[in-house]
Amino acid sequence: MRPHTGFLKVLPAALSLVTATPAGAQRPGLERRIDSLLAAMTLEEKLGQLNLLSANGQASPQQLQLVRAGKLGGLFNVIGAENTTPVQRIAVTESRLKIPLLFGLDVIHGYRTIFPIPLGEASSFDPDAAEATARAAGQEAAAFGINWTYAPMVDIARDPRWGRIAEGSGEDPYLGSLMAAARVRGFQQNIFATAKHFAGYGAAEAGREYNETEISERTMRETYLPPFKAAVDAGVASLMSAFNDIAGVPASGNAWLTDTVLRREWGFTGFVVSDWTSVAELVNHGVAGSQAEAGRRALTAGVDMDMQSGIYVDSLAALVRSNQIPPAVVDSAVMRILRAKQRLGLFRDPYRARTAPPTTDLRTLARRVAGESIVLLKNERSLLPLPKSGPIAVIGPLADNKEEPLGPWHTQGRGDDVVTVLQGIKAKVPGTAVLYAPGSGIEDTSTAGFAAAVTAARQAKVAILVLGERGDMSGEAASRSSLGLPGVQQQLLEAVAATRTPVVLVLMNGRPLILEWAADHVPAIVETWFLGVEAGNATADVLFGDVDPSGRLPVTFPRVLGQVPLYYNHRNTGRPPDVNNKYSSKYIDVPVTPRFPFGFGLSYTTFAYSNLKLSAARARASDSVTATVTVANTGNREGTEVVQLYVRDEVGSVSRPVRELKAFRRVALRPGESRTVELRIALRDLWFYGLDMKPVVEPGTFAVYVGPNSAEGLDVRFEVVP
Ligand code: BGC
Repeated sequence: MRPHTGFLKVLPAALSLVTATPAGAQRPGLERRIDSLLAAMTLEEKLGQLNLLSANGQASPQQLQLVRAGKLGGLFNVIGAENTTPVQRIAVTESRLKIPLLFGLDVIHGYRTIFPIPLGEASSFDPDAAEATARAAGQEAAAFGINWTYAPMVDIARDPRWGRIAEGSGEDPYLGSLMAAARVRGFQQNIFATAKHFAGYGAAEAGREYNETEISERTMRETYLPPFKAAVDAGVASLMSAFNDIAGVPASGNAWLTDTVLRREWGFTGFVVSDWTSVAELVNHGVAGSQAEAGRRALTAGVDMDMQSGIYVDSLAALVRSNQIPPAVVDSAVMRILRAKQRLGLFRDPYRARTAPPTTDLRTLARRVAGESIVLLKNERSLLPLPKSGPIAVIGPLADNKEEPLGPWHTQGRGDDVVTVLQGIKAKVPGTAVLYAPGSGIEDTSTAGFAAAVTAARQAKVAILVLGERGDMSGEAASRSSLGLPGVQQQLLEAVAATRTPVVLVLMNGRPLILEWAADHVPAIVETWFLGVEAGNATADVLFGDVDPSGRLPVTFPRVLGQVPLYYNHRNTGRPPDVNNKYSSKYIDVPVTPRFPFGFGLSYTTFAYSNLKLSAARARASDSVTATVTVANTGNREGTEVVQLYVRDEVGSVSRPVRELKAFRRVALRPGESRTVELRIALRDLWFYGLDMKPVVEPGTFAVYVGPNSAEGLDVRFEVVP
């Protein structure tokens, strides 16, 4: 047994509609029913259950034929209950065995009500918030006929060139695991979740989408797999196999991942769906010479459902009949799909009529979580929060943009529902003069709008520049080779800053950007990611001090692209960076440190840490140790601190990261208030893969750091004893 992450608790079953019947624990009667269903199925019907196709809003006539013929297990991208219901009716009344369909959709950060992108939401360091938005999104999606989402995306990502960094929780396996579990719990109150992309997709070389990966088994197990394990422990119904290969073995035909680790080690009883045509792509990877061979490889590796390749249903029957695929492999995959449908309650209630949460509740939640997701990166001389007086200049191509705050993967989100930053500011300071000038486009090279922007800034007491990326510059197939502000936005920023009107830079982006000039020259920088429908209100709440910024970076911001990949939980090397030693691990032209470290974020108040103590100086690996620290609000405003605890295993049989996040807590403090904060470390969570590739907590000294981010903090030591 591998000792595993004790922080991952499954919600009491009664709290969750979907996980109420864990997939492994079916009632005997129902289990018999599934068995007899399987016995009644033809081979073609079995392979049909393993077939998943995308519709284009509505099922096509050909797809309806497949449903009637029992050759489809699920459809995705059917939009609206008025479209899912008739298709389900065909499945349960016109197909021979009347097996209901799964209806999937990429409900990533909202269905119609769009919440912050997952990377933004991870900045909240608030898994409860992530659970709440996932629950709400799932309920809203369910009301529109969806019963299965392709989320959460739990890929650890250390390379900001990779556009899909926006969809996950950033670079840290601990934060990523808590967020993964929270989102699974949230979604599965109403619909099935899918942890994706299994596994290692975030390690795409050079940040280039779909690229190969080279991940050692140790790094795979310690860094990339924990969020998947967390999702499995939280009862996730399905996993999606990734596009990438791992050292030559594609994830969608990788028996080590989808069988050895997932099913045998972790005991996962749900099903695995491929990514979009990732089964067919085994041919391009060069591990299969034909479509049929690709299908054989994927299915026998443990990929139960074929998304969009059509290979299982079209090409595998002959291979099963000739015993090149053992019939038992097909039966197991079919059983997993049927059990999942049963667990979801589809045999009882195929249409699952649901009511969406009231819009006001959704928007209130969206605004609150968006506020928590904002990270204050710089605030020289307390320029922020702004007084509610003007004139205020609001400048930039994203200032009054209604589409981009939705970010990538916004399913049914609509620009019309978005409150822009300009609208949010106007609503916040009624009666105050607000001068607006877009200045430039997001990517255009025209500087024709600069003059008006500069004039507006000159007339104002403060200039709020809203700059960044288009929503679709991150997400899938959106790798970037440069991470500066696109188009002429950098020049716009410099032109406005040259007016000497104080500048607040409000960023909208789906990844860390390179912000060197701004970090040196702009007094205030606010990272808002893509906050969704309440972007403008949440941003104004923070800019004017109604909400204290409490977001912290879930990912490192490098100084220059040449530092990438740059992440906080790296190993020490034999020659750790030393400014006084040329022959140490560093660059000759840039500091080795990040611009903004993991865990970093300012508040409008200040916090002081003191008196860090541990409950024990020595403990066994089966015990836990509690760190206590006094955190004081030393400023004159109320604020929320995210107290972070990192651990370093100082001597191991294998070199360990210089710091690893193991606990954190959000703490709200009034001015002058101080509180003793407790953070518990279950020592079994200090496991790593030893020389023998078995998980172990090794005796020895551990350093504990407690502070406001991964680069600061008090420290103390304890010893794990045998
Ligand atoms: C993406 C998946 C997504 C699927 C279905 C693929 O291209 O990689 O994340 O769930 O499409 O839309």
